[in-house]
Amino acid sequence: MLSSRTLSGVAQGALRNAKVQPFRCYASASPTAAFASKKGSNGKYTVTLIPGDGIGPEISQSVKDIYTAANVPIQWEEVDVTPVLKGGKTVIPEPAIHSVKKNTVALKGPLATPIGKGHVSLNLTLRRTFNLFANVRPCVSIKGFKTPYDDVNTVLIRENTEGEYSGIEHEVVDGVVQSIKLITWEASERVARYAFHYAQSQGRRRVTAVHKANIMKMSDGMFLSACRQVSKEFPQITYDEDLLDRVCLQITQNPRPYSDRVMVMPNLYGDILSDMCAGLIGGLGLTPSGNIGRDASIFEAVHGSAPDIAGKGLANPTALLLSSMMMLRHMGLDDYAVKIESAALSTIAEGKTITGDLGGKSSTKEFTSTIIEKLSK
Ligand SMILES: NC(=O)c1ccc[n+]([C@@H]2O[C@H](COP(=O)([O-])OP(=O)(O)OC[C@H]3O[C@@H](n4cnc5c(N)ncnc54)[C@H](O)[C@@H]3O)[C@@H](O)[C@H]2O)c1
Repeated sequence: MLSSRTLSGVAQGALRNAKVQPFRCYASASPTAAFASKKGSNGKYTVTLIPGDGIGPEISQSVKDIYTAANVPIQWEEVDVTPVLKGGKTVIPEPAIHSVKKNTVALKGPLATPIGKGHVSLNLTLRRTFNLFANVRPCVSIKGFKTPYDDVNTVLIRENTEGEYSGIEHEVVDGVVQSIKLITWEASERVARYAFHYAQSQGRRRVTAVHKANIMKMSDGMFLSACRQVSKEFPQITYDEDLLDRVCLQITQNPRPYSDRVMVMPNLYGDILSDMCAGLIGGLGLTPSGNIGRDASIFEAVHGSAPDIAGKGLANPTALLLSSMMMLRHMGLDDYAVKIESAALSTIAEGKTITGDLGGKSSTKEFTSTIIEKLSK
């Protein structure tokens, strides 16, 4: 249940956000994922930074430069999560685990996952290690940046620990492979409750559970039952359910009606639907996310390591920067978030120094410098 400390933090954060910027609410309000860290003697919070693979180091550097320019009271504790072998299993190095547990908050660049072989996804390992049970993916059109849709404002909450990503696969007989989609009541109820709290704290009046219970009657059926039960605790919030395929069709036809709600769903559906929403606002380079857990929260861009452009100085750092804005609000540093976000979004809206993925010709550094110039004005 809610602790008074967290509840008041959530309520205050929501109130602050509502006053400062009703349009763009990236706060990750949660009854179970309090930011527990304290400022050090230098007046700064310590945040774990996982730069990641591919374009990760380039976009992380951009965020660091912008934070320095904005005087954000944060010092970064950079850790390496290259997997190590322990008892025959690939695990995250102990110093990295210790850092995230101690700081309770981390910013993470993308991590590459070998396809079809090699170590298990480090992203999955991180989610399991820190019990990051909910993945929050807001997708909001950027005013002034023209895309086929001007009015996207969706929030997806994806169950983050099981479902189709439980990683339980085996060969039954030669030529027959089974992959288990694991749904538990506990994880479903936990993510559903988070979704309702999120909706409540962000002024969204509806929660829609997205599913395929017409086909996966038992697994998605149980996910829905958990959502229905939790919905009774929130009589002021309308609860409904919709099929994944129908939601995809309807959002691409007209995203506007979805701005009134939070959508909650099992793991794979959230992965795919959030990429689809990212496409509606201008691509993966613009879409942030937060992995919310009981003991820690890790904020990261939705996109991957973009090996095709890595090391070329072409990457768009916006998604990681906006993920870090979610992080700042999670930490109660809303004023810094508003200032940096406004500089970044107006740089994109002006369109003079934007990266290639947004139709511009600028490098990561040029884009970053423009944001920094705006911060000093
Ligand atoms: N959370 C994560 O760490 C995460 C998420 C998705 C994929 N991955 C991993 O990333 C690797 C590459 O995956 P992928 O190629 O399927 O997806 P990707 O997101 O890395 O790239 C897809 C396309 O989008 C472009 N793109 C992505 N981010 C961009 C940015 N910030 N600026 C400009 N362009 C950008 C890429 O250049 C590429 O053309 C894989 O190993 C995958 O497992 C990691």
